[in-house]
Amino acid sequence: MSEERIVSARLLQEEENEIHLRPSKLNDYIGQEKVKESVSIFIQAAQNRKETLDHVLLSGPPGLGKTTLASIIANEVGKPIRKTSGPAIERPGDLAAILTNLEPGEILFIDEIHRLNRSVEEIMYPAMEDYAIDIIIGKGPAARTLRLDIPPFTLIGATTRPGLLSSPLRDRFGINCRLDFYNDEELALIIDRAAAILAIDIAREGAEEIARRARGTPRIANRLLRRVRDYAVVKASGKITYPVAQKALNMLEVDDSGLDFMDRTILEAIIVKFGGGPVGLETLAAAVSEESDTVTEVYEPYLLKLGFINKTPRGRIATPHAYKHLNIEMTKLPEGGLFGNDEP
Ligand code: ADE
Repeated sequence: MSEERIVSARLLQEEENEIHLRPSKLNDYIGQEKVKESVSIFIQAAQNRKETLDHVLLSGPPGLGKTTLASIIANEVGKPIRKTSGPAIERPGDLAAILTNLEPGEILFIDEIHRLNRSVEEIMYPAMEDYAIDIIIGKGPAARTLRLDIPPFTLIGATTRPGLLSSPLRDRFGINCRLDFYNDEELALIIDRAAAILAIDIAREGAEEIARRARGTPRIANRLLRRVRDYAVVKASGKITYPVAQKALNMLEVDDSGLDFMDRTILEAIIVKFGGGPVGLETLAAAVSEESDTVTEVYEPYLLKLGFINKTPRGRIATPHAYKHLNIEMTKLPEGGLFGNDEP
């Protein structure tokens, strides 16, 4: 695969739409206050010492702004950013080609870094630690390694599954930031900002209603904003008021906890098909016809945050909140209790 194809994947239309909503400065980035504060301090400290910024690991559920934050960091340090992803770098040579072509101080952004394969990862260790790569020349007993210097650079890795990173890789990140779900107030501000950029007429209560149902995620908030705008234009005066937002979101089957059709399908499967659980991930994913990674990375984090499911050593269980939310009577406790032991 050529380096060009590895670093510039084609974007979907929705992603293109999303990009011009993204803030380019730390000051315009709403929420994640702790992350912003520490990133800002580390950038200033590196600049004072005229050093390259240490490697940064950004982790958290999808859609919370990891890629946006990487671009902001590049912008704040005044260096270009090259973007790629773990699965796109198939062979060690692909990574070596990228690393040897970096400009000094450049930011290399690797999305889904937990999906780098082992042989590629091994190229990364000396690159991160010593700004060098070890190339093996020849085969068998005559093989030698040649150390090649590369320009100093900052790796920004993004992952939805920090637990899947190998410890040698994880340990080489000097800065570790965990992004968390946004609160409703922050999401309403993000929606207001996006509405202003897209020239969408929205009332404060309209923004708040979308925020409440956006499952703590700016990407979802921005997507819902567009769909609610469509509804407002066709079915109302064009302005997103509270009742317009409510009706549009009901039509989209996003309920008042922000759960969509698949979230409810998952909860219903645990309760109805598996008697409330515990049910193993693979069995659950098969029952709802979804990839198990998607269940873990996309759906579960928010269901866990709302306390609708618990993960126990024997599998996932539905909590009393989930039964209440779906209006299903809870007739028995899950086998093994609510927390995976016999004492809830
Ligand atoms: N758009 C997406 N995420 C954002 C954020 N955290 N702040 C401002 N605008 C955003």
